Amino acid sequence: MDINEYLSTKKKIIDTALDYYLPKAHEYPRVIHEAMRYGVFSGGKRIRAILLLAAGEAVGGKEKELLQPASAIELIHAYSLIHDDLPAIDDDDFRRGKPSCHKKFNEAMAILAGDALLTYAFYLLSKIKYPPELTIKVFEEISYAVGTFGMIGGQVVDIESEDKELDVPTLEYIHTHKTGALICAAVKAGCILGGGTLQQTHSLNQYGAHIGLAFQIVDDLLDMEEGKKGKKRKSDLVKKKLTYPAVYGIESSKKQVQMLIEEALSAIKDFNHKAEPLRQIANFIGERGY
Ligand code: IPE
Ligand code: IPE
Ligand code: MG
Ligand code: MG
Ligand code: MG
Repeated sequence: MDINEYLSTKKKIIDTALDYYLPKAHEYPRVIHEAMRYGVFSGGKRIRAILLLAAGEAVGGKEKELLQPASAIELIHAYSLIHDDLPAIDDDDFRRGKPSCHKKFNEAMAILAGDALLTYAFYLLSKIKYPPELTIKVFEEISYAVGTFGMIGGQVVDIESEDKELDVPTLEYIHTHKTGALICAAVKAGCILGGGTLQQTHSLNQYGAHIGLAFQIVDDLLDMEEGKKGKKRKSDLVKKKLTYPAVYGIESSKKQVQMLIEEALSAIKDFNHKAEPLRQIANFIGERGY
């Protein structure tokens, strides 16, 4: 399979679903729906939504039913980026080569658009077409992963560690929580809804944890290179964030990414051909252009 073709086909399907599920821009109060849509449609690879689909399909699930939870995951991600760019957090004026949400609208609307995307994501999740016990399990996984024991915890420690001494356990905590937790939850949610066994869920949890950490290390490597992520301010360097390249150097960070990808692949080695997209996505994450 051609991974680039796979990713672009899935991205189009997810974009169509997102457009269908999100409130229309003309609905009252118009400005908040415009800001929500701006935060979602200003670009984005949709990798978390694609991972949910790929994990679900790897264990026998159907794309049609998986699209709604996949859209919910992507809305949570969009919220996290809008808030991450705010002056009080990373203070980034650009996102994906375009003005960030608070620059395009204003801070109040960016805060509220983030809040609205997060709450709307859980509304969408409450309406997925799965048995109630699976829906509740996925609710539990995702809500835990984005709270203070997951993504928010990671964001908090990321902010608190700015300009602080380099410290490896804290660095790992930040990465596995601020980015790894949502990526891992997307993979697990796909597996649960796709009808995966406990053993499969366990293996995909390992896979998700490894690619999640690798994803943030690569993000840090990309942030070091001007223009790679469409950012102008490069907040990670300006603010001296605790990152893998800052602690280990570029070459060692790249080696660690490769090791994590190998571990992710090994976690799903017993899966059949339906897991091929998951294997290719892991390789894609390891090689996405630093
Ligand atoms: C960027 O995530 C922020 C991180 C958590 C590392 P992505 O690189 O997935 O962002 P988009 O949605 O594709 O722009
Ligand atoms: C973002 O991490 C993590 C979350 C939004 C939860 P970064 O701050 O490194 O992401 P970028 O570099 O702004 O995309
Ligand atoms: Mg940040
Ligand atoms: Mg940031
Ligand atoms: Mg970054």
